[in-house]
Amino acid sequence: MKMRVLLSVVVLLSLVLTGMALAEEKAAVEKPNFEKMSGKDMYKMLCKGCHQADSDAGEYTPMSLITEQWEEFFDGDFAETHKEVPCQMDPKSKVVDHFDKKMLKKIRKFCVDHAADSEQPMTCG
Ligand code: HEC
Repeated sequence: MKMRVLLSVVVLLSLVLTGMALAEEKAAVEKPNFEKMSGKDMYKMLCKGCHQADSDAGEYTPMSLITEQWEEFFDGDFAETHKEVPCQMDPKSKVVDHFDKKMLKKIRKFCVDHAADSEQPMTCG
């Protein structure tokens, strides 16, 4: 009898631990570490979804615009034109709510470095 109780406790405990591990993994998937992510990866993850070929919002890759246009965009237009656009993943929030200064700085650099008039014009793959 005692053995049975012990066994149930062990089984229960391992279930709880597995559940916790899974929850942690899920949280990690939902919250990527943007500190460590490159501008390119952030563009792919956060901009491309709305701006690939045939998107309603228009197709935009770094080489869609020239340097000056990207600079203007990140210096003001983005905040202006995306403040009312609902986020795809979480439509209760707006696109701009998901970007902080550091992230935008990196994405801006990626776009500028690969703008249409740069030395290495690029789509983002
Ligand atoms: C949830 C969808 C969504 C996401 C995410 C998104 N955009 Fe947009 N974007 C739009 C829509 C919708 C418009 C059109 C806005 C308008 O016409 O007022 C737009 C417009 C633009 C334009 C055209 C110029 C302008 O200001 O209207 C550029 C360039 C652009 N987005 C780049 C980006 C970049 C770079 C990112 C990532 C940092 C991004 N977008 C993220 C939906 C999105």
